[in-house]
Formats: sequence, structure tokens, C-alpha cells
Amino acid sequence: MNELDRLAKLYGTDKQTNEEGQFIYHGYTPIYHHFLEPYRDTYESILEIGVLQGWSHLMWKDYFPNAKIYGIDIFSESVARDVSDERITIIKGSQDDKNLIDKFFTEQHLDMIIDDGSHTSWHQQKSFAYLWSKLKYGGYYFIEDLAVSQLREFREFEDWNSSTLGWLESLNTDNPHSYYIDNKSLLKIISEIKYMEKFGELLVIRKGYSIEPKAYFVVSNWNNDVSWVNDFTENYIIYDKSDTLPEDDKILKLENVGFNIFDICHFIVNNYDDLPELIAFVQGWPFNHCKRETFNKLIFNECFTPIEDYTHIKGRKGEDGGYLEFNNSYYLKEKEPYTHRYYNSYDGFMTNIFSDYIASTWVRFAPGGQYIVPKKNILYYSKRFWEKLMNIVSYDRLPVEGFLIERALYTIFANKFREKTA
Ligand SMILES: C[S@@+](CC[C@H](N)C(=O)[O-])C[C@H]1O[C@@H](n2cnc3c(N)ncnc32)[C@H](O)[C@@H]1O
Repeated sequence: MNELDRLAKLYGTDKQTNEEGQFIYHGYTPIYHHFLEPYRDTYESILEIGVLQGWSHLMWKDYFPNAKIYGIDIFSESVARDVSDERITIIKGSQDDKNLIDKFFTEQHLDMIIDDGSHTSWHQQKSFAYLWSKLKYGGYYFIEDLAVSQLREFREFEDWNSSTLGWLESLNTDNPHSYYIDNKSLLKIISEIKYMEKFGELLVIRKGYSIEPKAYFVVSNWNNDVSWVNDFTENYIIYDKSDTLPEDDKILKLENVGFNIFDICHFIVNNYDDLPELIAFVQGWPFNHCKRETFNKLIFNECFTPIEDYTHIKGRKGEDGGYLEFNNSYYLKEKEPYTHRYYNSYDGFMTNIFSDYIASTWVRFAPGGQYIVPKKNILYYSKRFWEKLMNIVSYDRLPVEGFLIERALYTIFANKFREKTA
């Protein structure tokens, strides 16, 4: 029994599986678990329409230990129960009350939405049309108990097309339509549907981008869930330094040295004569240095871009609002578990590799070394230059020179210094 099914049985929601000989429950938990298991620790915000006794909301609270759980219910049935607590917010009202929902969900910030509310076709489609914009890219939308949509009383009009099942059938035709969603909005929604499948009575839809980023992704991974990459693009390479991912034509194993700085240089050196026009160097989990909302916008840029969001740090902003650090090379000391071999200062390093570097009081860089870089910025420098940087960080798993080059990358990419050749 999977963990979600165990919790479903513990709290009593009818999403649970049946015991042998039982036929009363929906058995949705294996399907939910299949899709959601990778996101248990990372989901931040979910909404389930339809609360009743709050069983499923209590289940989700345990299943997603870091998420805020929202519910909405009209509370007309006497058995309805408000299970609000520090992580659960139960909203009293109808799922089609736009103004009410807007008060709670102002931006696109839900990781998952489940419609287990009235099950009427008009509510299901109106809620979908409205809540879709509140769902994050990569997020899931589920609609439960689809079978009732066959019943006449669960749809507004005689016409089968007004039922949720009729509407879903139309999505795969040349003439998609809905009684409740205007055509322009429907076409936009369809362009953002990355995946859609019915599992018995449960509909699973995943939201993705309608356009792809221009940049080729070079992902440096160490023990992260990298499935988010597929939400954006198929043009990527993952350099994997952990044991978790099996090697294939898009996942290459690299020796675990030099942080992601080694990977960046390795990619440049190995593809120097045939670089993609635009490259996004990102980490296996890029959202530690750049919150998702910001990442989701920046990643579509077609120019040199530091991928970061340090707007919450006061007083450390460059002219472009990005991260600035006082140039004192504090990180260049050997201190367990880090090792030190080559350089004692940032300026010492820069004057060693460039003949025209002018020392600066502040260093502008994207913590984490994540950038979108046009090929021409990389080609300002020779292949030997990138090889040299790669070699500087390749002597250990945790070389302090990794921090040094992490700080230097912005200045290197954004300028056109003269290399010292000797
Ligand atoms: C099937 S129950 C939800 C069960 C719960 N999700 C669980 O798995 O334990 C459906 C709930 O939807 C609520 N409901 C009915 N119409 C609604 C509406 N228009 N908006 C929001 N909730 C509604 C009902 O009051 C009922 O509590």
C-alpha cells in the first residue's frame, strides 16, 4: 500500500482503494501517488474544492509536509467540518465565486488543484476556466468523479456537449468548445496543456508552457529531482554527479568535482566549435537561488541574463537590481570540508587570467552560477581559457576556487577582457 493510500484510509476519504471484495471507494490514491510522489517535499500550495469532513485535506497535509492546504466548500451539508489550522485554510463559499477565490489566490501560485466539489458540469468547467490561471506551470489539475457528468441533472443543457465529458472529448478535435469557456481562452488553455489523461473517473491535466525558451539548457545535477526541465524544453543536457539518474542520451555522468562551475566549463570546452546560440546554465534545482515565479519569467529571455532573485536581500543590489558582494575574497580560505590550492584573492585571480582587468570594490554575480549566455559572450575567450578555468576547479569535490569562479563568471561573461596567454 502506498503512503497516500495509507493516509486516505487513516482519515477516511473515499479516494482510498477498496479492500478485497469491497466496491465502495474510488481508488484514486495509486494514480495521485504516481503523479505527485516526486513533489511531496516541494509543493508549497494546493487547493482541493469540496471539503465535507476534511478527510482529504488532512491527508494532503500529511502527504505534503511543506505545503499550505486550501479547501473551499459551501458547507450546506450538516456533516461539513472546518478543519482549518496553521497549514489548512478552509474557505466558505461556492467554487464558482470568482471574487471570493480571487481574495485568496491573487497570483499564479498553486502547485495542484483538485475539483471534488459539486461535480456538476457547469461548476467543473467554470472552475477550471478560472482556476487554470492560478495554477503554476508544471502543476496538476485533477477533476474527480467524471462519471456523474453522464447524468442529465449534472449538466445544464440537454446537449451532451455541455457535460464535462462532452467538453473533454472536444478538446482532442479540430473544434474544441465549452459552454462555459470562451474560445480564445480555451485555445490558450489548450496550448498550455502538456499532458491529459483519464484514469477511469479521474481526469489528470498537467500545465506547461505554450512556448519554449530559446536557450539550450545545461543542467548541473547532484541529487535533485530534475523533472521540472521537461516542463520547459526538450533541448537540454543534464550533467549528473549523483547516482540517482540512469545515463541516457540526455543525461551524462560527470565526475563529482568543482561544483557546477566544472560542468559549465566542461560543456563549453567539449562543444566549443558547435555551441548553441543561447545557453542556460542552471542547477538541478534552480529555485534555491531564484524563486520559481522569477525563474519562470527570466528563463524565456534571449539575452545575457543572471538567473537569480535576491530582491529580499537589502542593500546588496547592483544597477540592475542584482546581487552584489563586497570584494574581500573571504571565501578563499581552506575550511572543512572545502579545499584550497591556487588563489588567495579575487583580484589576484582576475589579474592572473586577464591583462586589462581593473579591480573593483564590489563584485556583481548570480549566486549559484546560473546564467543565460549567448554563444558570442562565451566565444570572447579561447577554448584554452575555458580549459584553464575547468582545470582550476577539477582537483577536488569542494574546491574554494569554485566559489571564486562562481563570483567571476558574471564579469567574465559580461565583459570582453584580454586574456593573458602566458
Ligand atoms: C465529495 S465531497 C468532498 C470530499 C472530500 N474532498 C474528501 O475526499 O474527503 C463534496 C463536497 O463538495 C461540496 N460542494 C458542493 N457544491 C459545492 C460548490 N458549489 N462549491 C464548493 N463546494 C461544493 C459539498 O458541500 C461537499 O462537502
